Amino acid sequence: TKMARAPDNTPRWATLVVLATLGTVVTVATNPGVVARITQKGLDYACQQGVATLQKELEKITIPTFSENFKIKYLGKGHYNFYSMAVRGFKLPSCQIRPSPDRGLDFSIKDASVKISGKWKARKNFIKVSGNFDLSVEGISVAASLKLGYTPTSGHSTISCRSCSSYVNSVRAHISGSSLKWLIQLFRKKIESALRRAMESKICEVLRNTVSSKLQPYFQTLPVTVKMDRMVGIDYSLVAPPKATTDNLDGLLKGEFFSLAHPSPPPFAPPALALPADHDRMVYLCISEYFFNTAGLVYQGAGVLNLTLNSHVIPKESKFSLTTNFFGTLIPQVATMFPNKEMQFLIWASFPPHLTVRPTGLDLIFVLETQAFAVLPNSSLAPLFLIEMNTSISVSVGVRSDRLIGELRLDRLLLELKHSNVGPFSVELLQAVMNFAVPTVVLPVINEKLQKGFPLPLPAYIRLFNLVLQPHQDFLLFGADVHYS
Ligand SMILES: *[C@@H]1O[C@H](CO)[C@@H](O)[C@H](O)[C@H]1NC(C)=O
Ligand SMILES: *[C@@H]1O[C@H](CO)[C@@H](O)[C@H](O)[C@H]1NC(C)=O
Ligand SMILES: *[C@@H]1O[C@H](CO)[C@@H](O)[C@H](O)[C@H]1NC(C)=O
Repeated sequence: TKMARAPDNTPRWATLVVLATLGTVVTVATNPGVVARITQKGLDYACQQGVATLQKELEKITIPTFSENFKIKYLGKGHYNFYSMAVRGFKLPSCQIRPSPDRGLDFSIKDASVKISGKWKARKNFIKVSGNFDLSVEGISVAASLKLGYTPTSGHSTISCRSCSSYVNSVRAHISGSSLKWLIQLFRKKIESALRRAMESKICEVLRNTVSSKLQPYFQTLPVTVKMDRMVGIDYSLVAPPKATTDNLDGLLKGEFFSLAHPSPPPFAPPALALPADHDRMVYLCISEYFFNTAGLVYQGAGVLNLTLNSHVIPKESKFSLTTNFFGTLIPQVATMFPNKEMQFLIWASFPPHLTVRPTGLDLIFVLETQAFAVLPNSSLAPLFLIEMNTSISVSVGVRSDRLIGELRLDRLLLELKHSNVGPFSVELLQAVMNFAVPTVVLPVINEKLQKGFPLPLPAYIRLFNLVLQPHQDFLLFGADVHYS
């Protein structure tokens, strides 16, 4: 029996070069709502983590038994056998992952080495001898090209090994054992070169298997859709295959909120994002204002910004009460037309809140309408007046663990009377009441959602640290270093 050979005898480095020229140029038809960028620093970290996994897999390599019949002048016929070969530690000192424009990732390992030990036995006529041997395999290099893609139907990213080649610089066998080891020495060169070919093909086999059985499933842990609550989800599917540039690997994600019950494309499109060249963090997320504006659109459509204010939601200790008697002190007609009645306010956003992100900060246009009613004894509502409230709100955004969180704070409120059923009155009379009601009753409802936060598109087992967050034109840039655990 002969040892397993490499699948073919063509030099595999050449194969790699040929495949390298077959990349396709990707153009993106749709702007992404979120760009997830991995910098070279991030790829270096991923390489360290990946190599630890690869090393474990390589240590499981099994080397087939190698045996041969021989016939030598004067000595006659015989047979030898190398078996029970076990890998005793793979050293992978340096690895590199480099983005390769329009192609994917180039992965390489240099100067790896491995020690293998095993047993040998030989037979010549009636003599049987045996012993041990140690093999040191040195100067192993591996080069692989990883292809990144996506499944357009699901938006999942995929990774596969496009080509792999490995080269072993030297194999040295140390044979120990009986007096007949001189015989085995005769075959040393042959044994060494057979084992060298075996290692070369095994390494790429392990690498390919590790990519498909470990790395590809890990890629699948990147969330494609996230359910926020029973009404709303976030779509983080890829809109194009991951894009490698000279310095980075970019995932172009849809980054869009959608209604679970009635998903429909928003009436506005994401802007083109001019990503900065920042590279001192491992990962960056460019979160377009589009992302936030689809959130506003979907939550407004779902009625989350529709609130009913009645006497129950006004804190007891407050100096206001939702009664016609109290409002009669501001607008006398209310008390004369509807004496001793409870009141109810219906508040809603007349159009979706709109966030603009600029290098100087975030601006939110948030217009609320309020319809006031008197509650009649038979529980029906008598309309009193409708006011529009233009809010000037400051938005603060942050990141807590893997979620984007926010908080709205009211700076200023402008009131306008849109309609009155109780005759004309000066809307300024209601300013103090609304200045109290909006921050204490309306904003907390929204802030509660914003504090729960939006999950960021991160794969499993990732912890973020060294966070930075900066506003840029049309997007927020969020950077972090990651720890895989
Ligand atoms: C919110 O309230 C407004 C005004 O009453 C109404 O037009 C809109 O349909 C409501 N939205 C939902 C989802 O209930
Ligand atoms: C409730 O009472 C008001 C005034 O008393 C009346 O106009 C209205 O029709 C009543 N509504 C119902 C549903 O009974
Ligand atoms: C409210 O804001 C909108 C948009 O900024 C503006 O067109 C409108 O005139 C404002 N209304 C009031 C009452 O200030």
